[in-house]
Amino acid sequence: MLDFLGDLRRTHTCGALRASDAGQTAVLMGWVNRRRDFGNLVFIDVRDRTGITQIVCDKESNPALHAKAGELRNEYVIATVGKVKLREPNTINKNIPTGEVELIAEELRILNEAKQPPFLPSDTVLPNEELRLQYRYIDLRRDAMQRNIELRHKVAIAIRDYLSAQGFFEIETPFMTRSTPEGARDYLVPSRVQPGSFYALPQSPQLFKQILMISGFDRYFQIVRCFRDEDLRADRQPEFTQIDLEMSYPQPERVWEVVEGFLTAGFKAGGYEIKPPFPRMDYDEAIRLYGIDKPDLRLPAFTPVRDCFAPENLETLGVHPGLPVIAIRTPKVGELSRKERDEIKTMFHTKGGAKLFEDFKRLEKSFPDATAKVREKAGAAAADLIVLVTGSTQSGELKSPGVRKVSPQELAIYASAGLLRVALAQKYSGRHGCFQPGDFRFLWVTNFPMFEYDETEQRWNAAHHPFTSPHEQDMDKLESDPAAVRALAYDVVLNGTELGSGSIRIHRQDIQRKIFHALGLTEAEAKSRFGFFLEALEYGTPPHGGIALGLDRIVMILAGADSLREVIPFPKTARAVDLMVDAPTPVSEAQLKELGIQVSKN
Ligand code: AMO
Repeated sequence: MLDFLGDLRRTHTCGALRASDAGQTAVLMGWVNRRRDFGNLVFIDVRDRTGITQIVCDKESNPALHAKAGELRNEYVIATVGKVKLREPNTINKNIPTGEVELIAEELRILNEAKQPPFLPSDTVLPNEELRLQYRYIDLRRDAMQRNIELRHKVAIAIRDYLSAQGFFEIETPFMTRSTPEGARDYLVPSRVQPGSFYALPQSPQLFKQILMISGFDRYFQIVRCFRDEDLRADRQPEFTQIDLEMSYPQPERVWEVVEGFLTAGFKAGGYEIKPPFPRMDYDEAIRLYGIDKPDLRLPAFTPVRDCFAPENLETLGVHPGLPVIAIRTPKVGELSRKERDEIKTMFHTKGGAKLFEDFKRLEKSFPDATAKVREKAGAAAADLIVLVTGSTQSGELKSPGVRKVSPQELAIYASAGLLRVALAQKYSGRHGCFQPGDFRFLWVTNFPMFEYDETEQRWNAAHHPFTSPHEQDMDKLESDPAAVRALAYDVVLNGTELGSGSIRIHRQDIQRKIFHALGLTEAEAKSRFGFFLEALEYGTPPHGGIALGLDRIVMILAGADSLREVIPFPKTARAVDLMVDAPTPVSEAQLKELGIQVSKN
């Protein structure tokens, strides 16, 4: 028989009691984490999100209560009144903060029973992720998940407080809006009152926050849900949370100061001290040194080593005369077996003729002088792994101009080497120890190219979004040389993950028109896509800029987790499915009819 809560009031949480509370009466409530039956004594570990306390039910002093304790099963919900008692020295549990005391139960109420769950919050072996997501309410009771969600809360509050203190207003923007210009795909919401018309869920509040600057709000922020129907990975969810902000009259550095400030506050709330200002690096340099626009600074950069080899060596090796030779150094890998060296080949995804020399030992035999120079230039210790990436003679004639005046073949070398550098570091992370918890290496990547060339569509696309401002010095190249135009765009990167992205926006109509022209958009097309926004720009738009950071990603890194699903209470799978509520689902014919929607069944 179940008991009612009645007027029983909790006095302590399950993680609160200490030796100094001995002698007090306490009322605890929570789940039965474990019950151990020793005949005359039954021990119950009662758990809530703050911890665990041991309850003792003694047959001699209270036979009815002892019998009731016998009915308890895992995850039953109980309330208990009892006396706090110091444990005997030999029964102290040093593993839990309440381990010096126990509660001698005087009253026990069973508030609810529980079916045997598919797994227990206290299980040490994690069940498979599908089961965790299906029974997310059980999974969330696990200590690790409770801590991650608490961390998320603390970080968000600290950031919110910081921004508010800096004069930013948190302003809500609509969730039901129109398709945004940001490339990735929209989630659509059909309108019942206007059949055939759809709202779109925002991929970000981009245009609204710019309009807030036009509206005079000066400093805006929002911790806001965004929705994107894109292919999912460990660091992408279809709905995710941005720390979104915009300010009037900023240089990029003003935006960076704000971000550095709120990240310092957020990381402090997570228990870590970080020290701004973060280093800065041009996009071009990031590509040349790391082959990627989100470099992980915990690992060594590439070393260009073409000059270590004599021209005839390069010819023997089949290296293209006009392309760089790059050494990737992975620290402290030690000896590799033949099989392991061969595995490196499978990790190398060559793009556009990039060529790998994974067997540096063999090169050392054939080219002792050159390879010694490579080792020295790369600062390699004996146990460090070196592999070389270059372009083969079959790379063909070097095409130029490509993006930023670097041939596509050269970019392909950087890109292939960049991916291999990270893959090697991850594979050997157990050996090199470069990935230490609490080692946070932030970086601003700046001066992105304004445009990216789309080879299939044969046209220029905006690399960030079409409202990003070009560099003031590059305005004259907009038409003559789009590849050379730098954007006032920036990313904040942490340990190889893009945390956030932003830019100074275009606030002038004449420049906006030039950008649309460069993107091959006619005036009519631009008007039909962003008409309301272009009109707003005409009514006195101050210079403005901003950024958005992924809150989920920040918390994931702080928690040392390897997937966003570990820090989002109700996430979706890689197939964008919510396994707990089973969404998405088909809907009834009647519902579709009302919305004026027909579903094709092929
Ligand atoms: P962007 O599209 O680069 O910029 O997004 C900014 C940051 O949001 C996070 N993010 C995601 N996190 C989880 N899952 C996703 N699917 C996902 N997509 C993005 C990332 C990313 O760095 N409006 C612009 C910002 C601006 O210019 O102010 C924007 O949304 O951490």
